[in-house]
Amino acid sequence: MKSKDTDSAQDQGPAPARQPVSELPPWGETRVVGKALPRVDGYERVSGTAVYARDFALPGMLYATIVRCPHVHARVKKVDVSKAERMNGVCAVITGDTPGARIPWYAGDKGPVSWLFDPHCRHEGEEVAAIIAETQQQAFDAARSVAVEYEVLPFVIDHDKALGTGSPPVHEGGNLQGKPGIYQRGNPAAGFAEAAVVLEQTYRTPTQLHSTMEVHGSVAQWDGDRLTVWDTNQGVFGRRAELAEALKLPLSAVRVISHYTGGGFGSKLELGKYTVIAALGARMTGQPVKLFLTREETFLVTGNRPANTITIKAGVKKDGTLTAIEARLTGPVGAYPHGSTSAYQIMDLYQCPNVRTEETDVFINAGKARPMRAPGFPACGWALEQMMDSLAAKLGMDPLDLRLRNIPSVSQVRGNRPFTSTGLRQCLVEGARAFGWNEARLHPPGDGHLRRGVGLAAGMWGWDGEPNATAIVKLMADGSVNLNTGASDIGTGTKTVMAMVVSEELGVPIDRIQIEHADTATTQYAPDSGGSQTTHINSPAVRAAAVAVRDELLSLAAEELKQPVSALALRDGAVEIAAPARRIPLSDLKSLSAKQVLIGIGRRGAHPEGKIALPFAAQFAEVEVDTRTGTVRVLRMLAAHDSGRVMSRLTYENQVFGGITMGLGHALTEQRVLDRRTGKMVNANWHDYAIPTALDVPADLTCLPIDPHDTECNSVGAKGLGEPATIPTAAAIANAVCAAAGVRIFEGPITQARILESLARKGEEVKS
Ligand code: MOS
Repeated sequence: MKSKDTDSAQDQGPAPARQPVSELPPWGETRVVGKALPRVDGYERVSGTAVYARDFALPGMLYATIVRCPHVHARVKKVDVSKAERMNGVCAVITGDTPGARIPWYAGDKGPVSWLFDPHCRHEGEEVAAIIAETQQQAFDAARSVAVEYEVLPFVIDHDKALGTGSPPVHEGGNLQGKPGIYQRGNPAAGFAEAAVVLEQTYRTPTQLHSTMEVHGSVAQWDGDRLTVWDTNQGVFGRRAELAEALKLPLSAVRVISHYTGGGFGSKLELGKYTVIAALGARMTGQPVKLFLTREETFLVTGNRPANTITIKAGVKKDGTLTAIEARLTGPVGAYPHGSTSAYQIMDLYQCPNVRTEETDVFINAGKARPMRAPGFPACGWALEQMMDSLAAKLGMDPLDLRLRNIPSVSQVRGNRPFTSTGLRQCLVEGARAFGWNEARLHPPGDGHLRRGVGLAAGMWGWDGEPNATAIVKLMADGSVNLNTGASDIGTGTKTVMAMVVSEELGVPIDRIQIEHADTATTQYAPDSGGSQTTHINSPAVRAAAVAVRDELLSLAAEELKQPVSALALRDGAVEIAAPARRIPLSDLKSLSAKQVLIGIGRRGAHPEGKIALPFAAQFAEVEVDTRTGTVRVLRMLAAHDSGRVMSRLTYENQVFGGITMGLGHALTEQRVLDRRTGKMVNANWHDYAIPTALDVPADLTCLPIDPHDTECNSVGAKGLGEPATIPTAAAIANAVCAAAGVRIFEGPITQARILESLARKGEEVKS
């Protein structure tokens, strides 16, 4: 999911003509769906037997590595590969001059803006050449002996300065990407005039890195003029299309397989240069080629959540009614076109008649941004939700009540169409009750150096998904099932959820369902596993396929058993008849074995006409701030989520806790640090770039699903969860820190230094 897709979904016009949602009636009580069942691939994942692309090997496979530009802005004058070519084990060297390697890259408004190997290197780590060798070490050795002559250029790495005069241009047209995106409704000036309190404040968020457990890479193999790629990605069909385009091949000549993906978070939603380089190398050598990045490389070239600078001005009446919000959001897209901000929540999270937002994307000499778990939303929440707390403080209101005062019932940014369900109020109210908000809020922070406080933040996600998925379910003669879906399971539990849907409809035990997925040659189209759409886009297709099989099975069984269909039920791999009670295992059905297989094809229905299906959330945090050291300890968090029906209780919780963990890093420790003098990243490793560990994540985490029984969003009633889980986290922690320490940290992450500086500025005596 790209942030610009979210933007383009905004419109104020009439609802587009849409087909009705899939005709299947909503489920009532479910027997399997919603349970906390173990993951279908849990054993493979924990035992190490799951074969990720990183683990994949083929006979005769060669290894590749990429020679990268060490400068943040430079022009390649000369590449001398003569020494590398003569080195032990080297099979091929690829540069921009290699036949077939001049491939356009990175789409701008007017077409591609770069090349696979671009002599104008606009950020540290740009691809200059590649080595294919018999072993990985030989490739690394040869890469070091490639002699590259650079003309080093002046650079800009600070997005707040990129548009200033004298900033070196990253691209010929300058550092402004496109035009600022402007949205307005109502009359903000009039709204501010009505307000009892108007506040304006600037907030900053750091650049966060995806930090996927599995590094990025591919294995490529040619069979004649057909290419197969084992890749780690978030959608095989999307990557196939991009790869086919890059290599000028028909879709039918490219097969992409991604059976296991060790995390993506948005960074594996676009074709990597490494994939194309592996394919070129495999074509040149006639042997399969494996090219995986090192951990350090992933920090430089596989995307990031860009830093944001967000200035918000907001007005409220005495009773807490929002009258106007104005916001300017600026972020760096890195060196190539992308989106950097999202004002969506400012436009749609709260009822507010007068809103103006302006979003500006700028180029800097750093790695390109990619979508990262709710692109733009956590940063927007960091600003908006801290502003809500400041407004509440000014009004002397409970921050919970201020939010409850401004709950929307329609999507104001999308033509005032109603939401299929708006669980925001329930998330806030039920979350507060379960958290013990009232008691905890009134508890004094303490007067020693350890201060406690609680904070909350609300959030929503703004993308309703690409309603386009097909699934096939096959029931075999012995009563076992093959489920065929193109969806990638990027670690979220997609396969488990889909198997539960089949089990729900066919009454077949989960362990009798074989899953075939994420292979463009053998499975059916599914959109990218991103944008929190995987479950609610694919489950309805899987359900429809299972229902097609069920209907055929029941009519065969009815005929064979001389019973009306209405007297039959499917349960535990058998057909059950109520009276007189009888149980016929599916494997005993002659009508089934006569056919050997029943095949159901299911397609996802369209989104509901005239309505918007989006998830909502509220998260609550309790923290302890040490005013001597500035350390923040998150003691507990509670996440209340309206993501519609809980499909799988276990993976739902996994998503929520994972989202909180990522948000905790965003709030407290994670930030890309670029050296002021060289522009280079100084913490491109997991030692210096601190993602939360088990010691940082509170043991006291509560997941509180709010199920508004949405019968309209789609035929399974689920909305997205993966991204909402991380949207409010950092803001909730920031608000709790403010409640505890009495200082508001406008710029994230909330480091010890920032706490201590703020306390000092406040004149607070730091007791020693
Ligand atoms: Mo997501 S950022 O669409 O994986």
